[in-house]
Amino acid sequence: MKCVDDFRLHLGGHELVPIVIGGMGVDISTAELALEAARLGGIGHISDAMVPTVSDRRYKTRFVKDKLKLYKYNVANSDKSDVRFDLGHLAEATRLHVATTMDKKRGDGLIFINCMEKLTMNAPKETLRVRLREALDAGIDGITLAAGLHLGSFSLIEDHPRFRQVQLGIIVSSLRALQLFLRKNARLERLPDYVVIEGPLAGGHLGFGMDWAKYDLNAIVNEIRDWLKVEQLNIPLIPAGGVFSGGDAVGFLENGCDAVQVATRFTVANECGLPKDVQQEYFKAEEQDIEVNGISPTGYPMRMLRNSPAIGDGIRPNCEAFGYILDANGRCSYIDAYNREVALHPGVKKVSVKDKTCLCTHMRNFELWTCGHYTYRLKDTTNRLPDGSYALLSAEHIFHDYQYSKGGIIALPTATEMQA
Ligand SMILES: Cc1cc2nc3c(=O)[nH]c(=O)nc-3n(C[C@H](O)[C@H](O)[C@H](O)COP(=O)(O)O)c2cc1C
Repeated sequence: MKCVDDFRLHLGGHELVPIVIGGMGVDISTAELALEAARLGGIGHISDAMVPTVSDRRYKTRFVKDKLKLYKYNVANSDKSDVRFDLGHLAEATRLHVATTMDKKRGDGLIFINCMEKLTMNAPKETLRVRLREALDAGIDGITLAAGLHLGSFSLIEDHPRFRQVQLGIIVSSLRALQLFLRKNARLERLPDYVVIEGPLAGGHLGFGMDWAKYDLNAIVNEIRDWLKVEQLNIPLIPAGGVFSGGDAVGFLENGCDAVQVATRFTVANECGLPKDVQQEYFKAEEQDIEVNGISPTGYPMRMLRNSPAIGDGIRPNCEAFGYILDANGRCSYIDAYNREVALHPGVKKVSVKDKTCLCTHMRNFELWTCGHYTYRLKDTTNRLPDGSYALLSAEHIFHDYQYSKGGIIALPTATEMQA
């Protein structure tokens, strides 16, 4: 019986352990987590979601405060078109986050950044251009284009000196999305270096409708793999979503895939950015505690724990400080939902908004507990402590479990690991 370590991912002249830790915004896939993946010979992702906010927390900058100060006059106004990101600040935050992480990189693996198109930031093209280019300038090993079709993203960096050297990949959930991307970018004569195929069991936003349960990752992988073969296109394929054990991963690697992208198991790693009490919520979850709903103002369904404080909360929109979801016209569907509830409940101090959430505020504060479908199995990956809580794991333990375990077996941490 084979294990993941019997396979290697060949990417841009690198020979890698075929394990990719997926991007998890907002700073859930921390630099520390990504650095561990790289040290162990795989690929780790940092995320550029809300990067000025992350920079303030990590590097003691003041981007959020300064932005709020500038636009304070607009807080009570539901028209947010005035609220613009300072592109210089955005560049500086991206540079800080990427360069600081890359400086600390050890080992043979790589560090990529997950870049979400749906973070439209009231100027979709301009802000995305800055995020992509600054990540390249700051020495990132690769960029994974996420949460969107990214039809114009390559052209935003086509004249960058690193455009043809850096690893560039895209996340798709269907053959159609991949075909569209390839067609739109044909003139650039630069294929993506890898394609992450994300199925319906993943965490975060889903590339499916609310009928997500009808889809199957294996079927999508086979369809894409067969089409690429017919087209004689050799692009490494990286399935994601529900790969919970080394055995699951081997199934995909034996089926012609080049690596797997995983995330949920690392949400309970010491190096993960989630607060410790939230990590216990992930451990405690049962299958019925996990839902896919439509409360994200991005318009994509999102999977999360049912007891996430963000669900039903009615906080005043915080776009003057954050505003990452504002579209090109300064709109966000949470603002409309919030205003509707305020109008329906005059005099009520704090309304409840059930159909949408203030994604920026709640992701920033770790109050929206997005997770993969198999989160309810996390409790089976560790030991319980005398106080009844679950022991967090090291990223190394989880990574090695994927790398060396066989069949569906998941290794529990040893007594020595528990003490470390
Ligand atoms: C907590 C959490 C946050 C996530 N955030 C993002 C994100 O910001 N961008 C993204 O492209 N994918 C995101 N994902 C998806 C993962 O990168 C990954 O592709 C997927 O969850 C893999 O499936 P698994 O969680 O079943 O292992 C997130 C997943 C989790 C669990």
